[in-house]
Amino acid sequence: MRLSLRKVLAALATLGALWPSIVLANPPRPEWNPGPPYAPLAPHSAEMRSISDLFWIMLIISGIIFIGVTGAIIISVFKFSSKPGGAEPRQIFGNRRIEILWTAIPAVILAVAFAVTVKYMRDINAPRTAARTFDIYAIGHQWWWEFQYPSLGVVTANEVHIPTGITIHYHVKSGDVIHSFWIPQLQRQIDANPGLDNAVFAEFDTPGVYGGACYEYCGTAHAWMKFRAVVQTPAQFAIWVKHELAARVPPTGVAAQGEKVFLQNTCVNCHAITGTSAGGAVGPNLTHVGSRWAIGAGAAPLTVQDLENWIANPPTYKPGVLMPGYPFLSKKDLHALAVYLISLK
Ligand code: CUA
Repeated sequence: MRLSLRKVLAALATLGALWPSIVLANPPRPEWNPGPPYAPLAPHSAEMRSISDLFWIMLIISGIIFIGVTGAIIISVFKFSSKPGGAEPRQIFGNRRIEILWTAIPAVILAVAFAVTVKYMRDINAPRTAARTFDIYAIGHQWWWEFQYPSLGVVTANEVHIPTGITIHYHVKSGDVIHSFWIPQLQRQIDANPGLDNAVFAEFDTPGVYGGACYEYCGTAHAWMKFRAVVQTPAQFAIWVKHELAARVPPTGVAAQGEKVFLQNTCVNCHAITGTSAGGAVGPNLTHVGSRWAIGAGAAPLTVQDLENWIANPPTYKPGVLMPGYPFLSKKDLHALAVYLISLK
């Protein structure tokens, strides 16, 4: 096929016509990093190290079997192939010694694999330092994560802060359908089932920011059910808690205007902002939304511009999202609302 100028121009014209929809289909996204694809092999907690160790043990056992079996096949092919004029090979059917051997070897391998797996499961499924655990409730909703700290009175969304040096007892629950809670570098995967309180224990040692998400298909916006885990030293964590619990600072200027818009619209039916009359519990708590990493559980960056677009038409960023759009708000109101929400640091 020869490329003529006409063909090139036609292709460019098609691309030009499609461009607006390509741009719309790819709105800006915030950064979210679940670690390398082999994250469970780059562990950052005692529990993930156990899982990683178990993986290596199984890989080595499997590797030895693989090399042994393929080696035996290759040797057999070359050494025992029938040759023209050769005699009939020795028949070993019913050889009791061999029958016992090749029944016993797999049984021993499976017994070892079973014992090692049970040992690591026990390590992971119980708190390592039994003396004290710290409760965090992780509740999956279509399509966002709620995090509650009952002992502190803190509620947040799509961003979980975790102190190092203490065993965390996650209570993984669901508000609707089955989700799956996983932070690949930090802890194992566990289902969030309606009506159940699934426990995960994990103790973290490396402060940092880690990507987490829902890992079980739970409806249209399943892919936008991401969150961030911020692992902090106890001192940093205490500062964060203090900030979360601080009394509301009344907004001023454009932000004050935005608060009025928020409180006069149906936003309050679903969202709560501590210190105001907004007490909805259907959607994410927005008390400190301006300090979080993203909007819509990772669907949109946290900027005034994206927040305006999000409020006017959330499905642009997150098809299937349950939040209704507010395209009827004036540009001025939308802007004030976005400025107000961003100010909630
Ligand atoms: Cu929640 Cu997938």
